[in-house]
Amino acid sequence: MSGDSAHTTETDLRIPEGLRHLAIIMDGNGRWANSRGLRRTRGHKEGAGTVRRITTTCAEMGLEELTLYALSVENYVKRPRHEVEFLLALLKRFVVRERATIMDNNIQFRTLGRTDEFPKGVRNELEKLRELSSSNDGMTLRLALNYGGRSELADAAKKVARDVQTGHLALEDVDEQALQDRLYDPRMPDVDLLVRTAGELRVSNFLLWQISYGEIFVCDTLWPDFDKQDLASALSSYGNRKRKFGGLVRPVDA
Ligand code: IPE
Ligand code: IPE
Ligand code: MG
Repeated sequence: MSGDSAHTTETDLRIPEGLRHLAIIMDGNGRWANSRGLRRTRGHKEGAGTVRRITTTCAEMGLEELTLYALSVENYVKRPRHEVEFLLALLKRFVVRERATIMDNNIQFRTLGRTDEFPKGVRNELEKLRELSSSNDGMTLRLALNYGGRSELADAAKKVARDVQTGHLALEDVDEQALQDRLYDPRMPDVDLLVRTAGELRVSNFLLWQISYGEIFVCDTLWPDFDKQDLASALSSYGNRKRKFGGLVRPVDA
């Protein structure tokens, strides 16, 4: 890699002000494969390469939090069994093979979702990488696996109810913070920028609580083709947004 700006054609990647948490709905693997006459699973394999490249780029940029939607609860139950099994095998291989990428980039690896429903071999590898990377203090990478925004809220509601029932939480103290504290990863901050690849204008049950005031960016690029240039477009779009959180951009003097 050259640091010589005269020769560099590299995309200028900078984290815009206020962007702490980037979340991506990685969509379009199947379409990428179909358009080439390949099996859908081949698209997933290519997509795993994009996960490695984008994760590395984000860590190098100094991003704090990256959350990637890899498998929804709906995907897990509705996709053909062979596709789900392929995805689980791919995940297991990814977690083993990318150990060095995670450690070399000082990334803390975590998961979000009902991974307890996964086969033991997959759970073990996820847990190993979580444990191994737990003292890294660079970017936090979260993979959403067997994840659903509604499931997360239902699971949090169940925890609230149990804590009220057992006397650990007073009914009067059930508020937004109480729910936040019982999400899959309570330390995870709200999403600043939500990117969806492959053009669909929907959130497909991703981080429903955490995207409340997130900025949304959709691009047509299919996930296996998503590159630094696409990332730069998303970041630059975010840089031009005026976030208001229900207030005013420049509060009028009282
Ligand atoms: C995203 O790609 C990956 C997963 C949901 C696992 P898709 O598999 O949804 O690809 P398309 O939408 O069919 O192109
Ligand atoms: C969302 O993509 C889930 C992931 C990217 C993991 P889908 O392809 O499952 O979403 P829909 O079905 O088009 O809404
Ligand atoms: Mg899709």
